[in-house]
Amino acid sequence: MTSQHQRPIPLLLTGLVVTLLGIVGTRAEEPTSPPASEPLVVDQRGPTIKAAYKDYFLIGTAGDMPGRYSDQEMGLVKEHFNIVTPENCMKPGPIHPSENTWRFERPDALVEWCEDNNIAVHGHTLVWHAQTNDWFFRDGDKAAVTQRMKDHISTLVGRYKGKIRGWDVVNEAINDGGNAQTARTENLRSSSWLRAMGPEFLTLAFKFAHEADPEAKLYYNDYGIETGPKHASSMVLLKRLINEGAPIHGVGIQGHWSTGRIPYAALDKAISDYASLGLEVSITELDVTIRGASGGQFGRGFGGRRFGGDAPPAPQDLKAQADAYARLFSIFVKHKEVIRRVTFWGLSDRRTWRFGQHPLIFDSNNQRKPAYAAIVDALLHPNPDLAAPR
Ligand code: G3I
Repeated sequence: MTSQHQRPIPLLLTGLVVTLLGIVGTRAEEPTSPPASEPLVVDQRGPTIKAAYKDYFLIGTAGDMPGRYSDQEMGLVKEHFNIVTPENCMKPGPIHPSENTWRFERPDALVEWCEDNNIAVHGHTLVWHAQTNDWFFRDGDKAAVTQRMKDHISTLVGRYKGKIRGWDVVNEAINDGGNAQTARTENLRSSSWLRAMGPEFLTLAFKFAHEADPEAKLYYNDYGIETGPKHASSMVLLKRLINEGAPIHGVGIQGHWSTGRIPYAALDKAISDYASLGLEVSITELDVTIRGASGGQFGRGFGGRRFGGDAPPAPQDLKAQADAYARLFSIFVKHKEVIRRVTFWGLSDRRTWRFGQHPLIFDSNNQRKPAYAAIVDALLHPNPDLAAPR
């Protein structure tokens, strides 16, 4: 019997305890074939994650609410979260589709709803290689493209000055993968921004954002930067930006992970590395799929069948996911002096870009999953088996 089963499990009803005891002994990260067992039941009235972590860091969600969200969903946002990131509506393509066209309806509605409900907003994202229309770069020399970037950032950040507390200024500028050679370089992605403006496009983006709102916290945001050559390149890049006087305040580790394949030790070290540069850290797009490959909006399963979207996740998969989330939050709590925010990338498994992989802490019926209870448990009743690396 492992220690985790000798402690009270205050946030899970008896049904879950009986179920989990039935699979005791399986290693949390190695789900076995699904046993015949009753459905998992989680206490829907326990402490909220927002309340549990109020003295540690903000707890966020992402979405283009309130439009096309139900009253029940908006109730979840109010009850469980204290910061919102627009999932798409503030990206360059959706908000500024052509040089003289701005689409502020959904961004304005999101900012207004959050203000009315005393919820903060983190802006996403000013400069990205994706969802950015070609007009920024068409027939433009470096000076023209620079001016278009400045006008975009000044208009957008200026519109929400004092209302949006921070921005993902540059998103995903570093190439994926890498090796020992690229690890000594910034290994920047060959984006239209880089080709038009050179590597200084990053420094200029931060300077333009700071000019537009000197109070806003300005982040570099990326995925996979917690480990390997891409982490090394992120350190090279961040040091250069700081040396060039870029007004950068933080690093966003997106956190798109899969159960059983989370680099816990590397993540722990990466947070310390970024803190050593004087930067704050946020986990900006957290989701942990039950199984399967990471990424993949509307992912397809084997043989083209919708990726598990129809079949509910098996109990042991939910347990393994719960343990993964608990281990992650033990790391975040360890670094509570540096971590400012943990944002889940989507409200529920019905709203996730990784549809069918059940990556979030509310299920498709807006019910708390075992992962939700495990995150609260990680703080209120820490499990030594799921502790952060020393
Ligand atoms: O709004 C249009 C709709 O009018 C149209 O009918 C529909 C079908 O074509 O597309 C809709 O736009 C989609 C949009 O999501 C809103 O649903 C885009 O096609 C689709 O590409 C877009 O996907 C978003 C993706 O970024 C774009 O790359 C995901 O929702 C969003 O979760 C995802 O988020 C990114 C972060 O911004 C950066 N980090 C990685 C993360 C996951 O890719």
